[in-house]
Order: sequence, then structure tokens, then C-alpha cells
Amino acid sequence: NTHIEKIPNQPKHVGIIMDGNGRWAKLRGKRRIFGHEAGVIKARELVETSVKIELEALTLYAFSSENWSRPKKEVSGLMSLFERTIEKYTSLLIDNNVRFKTAGDPSMLPKILKRKLEQMESITSENTGLKLTLAIAYGGQQDIINGIKLLIDDHNSQVIDINQMTVESFEDYLSFKDLPELDLIIRTSGETRLSNFMLWQSAYAELYFTKTLWPDFKITSLNKALHNYSERLRKLGK
Ligand code: FPP
Repeated sequence: NTHIEKIPNQPKHVGIIMDGNGRWAKLRGKRRIFGHEAGVIKARELVETSVKIELEALTLYAFSSENWSRPKKEVSGLMSLFERTIEKYTSLLIDNNVRFKTAGDPSMLPKILKRKLEQMESITSENTGLKLTLAIAYGGQQDIINGIKLLIDDHNSQVIDINQMTVESFEDYLSFKDLPELDLIIRTSGETRLSNFMLWQSAYAELYFTKTLWPDFKITSLNKALHNYSERLRKLGK
């Protein structure tokens, strides 16, 4: 039941909106953070599985720009959970040859977390396996605006000519620029929205929604999503 292997036509780059932790906890009469903790265990499982099936890139939506407006206690609980998670899984990432990066605006993150994320990025920067990106304090719209600002800087200093701009060259100003094209977005817990996740990059991505709450997401659930994707591609190719 936990068997999974590389399949033909599997996506190169999968993005995941890990939704439903709060509801999962509530169903058990627990606090929301209990659900987030269960969510981290699933994220770990997913990373290990992605390594096993030789996925090229995996991007996880851990915290959106909009999540800053959640109750203070939940936000600080999440920040401390992220910190502990980085600490705990550094060796796992090293052992599995995973290259770790973040996407988002780190300016409001706690200093210690910021430093740990940077350390993890630099320790794993030469790794050649799975490209794991954690979208944290990330918003797709904000990322595009940030790109435009960088673009204008380059234009003003005559590094580029805005009139020569193409879709491909604009991507150099956005997060995820060094990753393969996003093929598949999975969102758990029954919501069918993108919620500001990888807006630019999702232009041609396949979307897969499941009612399963994130802490209940199993290897078989991933297997199902990947087979669904490969089947869609097969039909397109006909
Ligand atoms: C959405 O559930 C989940 C989050 C906002 C946090 C996601 C974070 C994790 C799963 C931890 C992973 C962390 C790392 C470092 C890999 P929700 O709170 O919106 O659930 P609800 O919709 O049921 O309220």
C-alpha cells in the first residue's frame, strides 16, 4: 500500500498546496497547531517519496503572504514549528542529496528562522538531487510585483531594454526561475482555488484537487495524483 515507483510521463515539477491541517485537528478536538505538526510529518514523507521516484522539483506552500493575518498565536506557533522542522530535517536533506531553497519575502520572518533557512540553502546548494522549494511568506502577486521592480532597476541602469522583454526573459525576475516548468499543482482538503500560489508559473500546469485533508495525504494519494497526471498527458498526446 506504500508502494510507489517512477512512472512514464510523470511530472518534473510538482507544487503542493498543503491545506486542511486546521480542520484535521478540529475533527480530533485538538488545537490547530497539532494539525500543522501532523502536516510536517506528511511533508517529510512526501520529500522522501519524491526522492525515491526521482522527481526533479517539489515546491511546498508552507505559508502565504495572507497567512500573516491569522491569529498571532497561530502565526508564532507556525514560525516556531518551521524553525524546529528545519533543524530536525537538515541531515535528511543532506543525506538525500536534496537542494533546498525558499521563495517569498523573508523580511517579516523571525530572525532566527531566516538565518536557519539561509543556512539550509547554503549547506545544500551544491546538491544535485531533488530541488525542494519552500514557499514561505510567499504570494504569487507579490512575487510578480517584486519582479517588476527588479526589472525597472535593470532598465534604469541599462542592463536590459524593456522593449525586448519576453515571457522567458521576464521569468528571470521571478522566484522558481531555475526550476523546470511547473507541471502539476495538487491541492488538498477540497478547496478548488490557487490562493495566490505560483500564479505566473501555473499558466500551463495541470490542477489536481482532492478532498483528503493534508495530514491524511498518503503515498497512495500521491500515486493517484501522479497517475492521473500521466493519464491526462497520454490522452493529450493522442
Ligand atoms: C494549511 O492548513 C496549512 C498551513 C497554513 C501551514 C502549512 C504548513 C505545514 C503543513 C507544515 C509544513 C512545513 C514545512 C517546513 C515543510 P489550514 O490551517 O489552512 O487548514 P484549514 O484550512 O483546515 O484551516
